[in-house]
Amino acid sequence: MITETTTKGAGDSPLTLTSVRVAFGGLIALAGIDLDVGRGERLAILGPNGAGKTTLFNVVAGDIAPSAGTVTIAGEDVTSAPPRRRPALGVARTYQKTRLFSGLTVEQNLVLARVGKVGGHRRFRRGPALADARERARRVAHDVWLGDFVDQPVASLSHGQQRQLEVGLAVITEPQLLLLDEPASGLSRGERERLIEFLTGLEKTVTLVLIEHDMDVALQVADRVMVMADGEKVAEGETEAMRNDERVHEIYLGTQPGGPVGESA
Ligand SMILES: Nc1ncnc2c1ncn2[C@@H]1O[C@H](COP(=O)(O)OP(=O)(O)O)[C@@H](O)[C@H]1O
Ligand SMILES: [Mg+2]
Repeated sequence: MITETTTKGAGDSPLTLTSVRVAFGGLIALAGIDLDVGRGERLAILGPNGAGKTTLFNVVAGDIAPSAGTVTIAGEDVTSAPPRRRPALGVARTYQKTRLFSGLTVEQNLVLARVGKVGGHRRFRRGPALADARERARRVAHDVWLGDFVDQPVASLSHGQQRQLEVGLAVITEPQLLLLDEPASGLSRGERERLIEFLTGLEKTVTLVLIEHDMDVALQVADRVMVMADGEKVAEGETEAMRNDERVHEIYLGTQPGGPVGESA
């Protein structure tokens, strides 16, 4: 792969991991991962269950401190920084399992996500900040196809709608680095297509790292693919080149290249 040399240092990358290692007792979840994500890049992380994908997100988000290695976000070494440092650096993530407030409405969930980012609940009691958050909430709800559901409690939404709302909660913080953990899981075909449309339409200033089990979503959205297995990076390359990579097919799909995988109907 050809990498452009720029005058800026590696410190300007949205995300750099150097030899990141995580062990849970005797289990090595990440066995020394190196990764550099360029600004505006869309990276898909593929790999079987237990490969270490979510652990990698946990390290980037600060939920887990690595036992070795460094994590640099937007030029700042955050290896030992607490999770609360991340929003200030423009990081937003979704979780594999939903973390919505099910008793609150779509709009309320979105407003709270916005408030959490901008900080200072007191500012939001009344006045222009709250009005602004509510207006943004309605816009984002519309963007993730929940425009007709803003006043509905989350508990009344379908699984797919809840997943879409999770993406909305991340997006309303206006992230520089967006981490999505299997956003297409459990979505219907139509919902997946809308998700692809939404993700490919994201502003190019946003850097996107996507853990995705669904090959259609991963291959249509990503510029680059990283394949993990057993805590290691086993393959990496531009999406087009990876489409027919044997390791992608064997490790990830248990099939041979040349099949229908990745070709959308
Ligand atoms: N908090 C934890 N404590 C102990 N083991 C964990 C923890 N989180 C993940 N693991 C283990 O680490 C490995 C990688 O998990 P994970 O990162 O969730 O994989 P993936 O997201 O690729 O399916 C798995 O074997 C999993 O059981
Ligand atoms: Mg996972």
